[in-house]
Amino acid sequence: MHTSNKLSGHLRESMKFIQNFAVVFIGAVVFAFFFPAIAKGEAPWAAPAAAAAKKNPFAGNGEAAASGKQIYGTICTTCHGPTGRGDGPAAATLNPKPANYTTSAIAGESDGSLFWKLSEGRGAMLAFKGSYSEKQRWELITYIRTLQGKK
Ligand code: HEC
Repeated sequence: MHTSNKLSGHLRESMKFIQNFAVVFIGAVVFAFFFPAIAKGEAPWAAPAAAAAKKNPFAGNGEAAASGKQIYGTICTTCHGPTGRGDGPAAATLNPKPANYTTSAIAGESDGSLFWKLSEGRGAMLAFKGSYSEKQRWELITYIRTLQGKK
């Protein structure tokens, strides 16, 4: 009687161990499966609502677009391409691909949202808030808008 109680106690302990192990193991498998997708930035990328609602103080300003074009030509074009189609020389090696500004999805995004993404970055898309002033970043967005009109 005493021995069998001890035995079933052991059995219960082992079962618990196996259960815990299974939970951890399944968790690890699920994580390993989804992590590369998350790390590669395949999850949707959305700016916080407050940031997306920010207005571009230079919207439609030709001078600002010209300044933005200057900056764009020095670095952004490497990935996003000269016409903003995400086909710059560095694009081939990147996953996800650099954004194509001429898609309706990006044309439909607010300036505030694009400004936030440009500022905060994700993956290969670096955070440019340390490299360019707020004014320069709005100028870049103003320039990107001019690319969307071009066929
Ligand atoms: C090294 C390559 C690289 C460079 C340089 C680069 N980008 Fe990007 N950019 C990306 C990639 C890749 C994405 C997509 C990121 C993602 O979805 O995770 C992106 C996304 C963006 C987006 C978000 C588009 C959207 O709505 O989803 C904006 C805006 C943007 N880039 C602007 C710029 C500007 C402006 C510059 C220059 C100052 C620049 N990028 C330089 C690679 C680059």
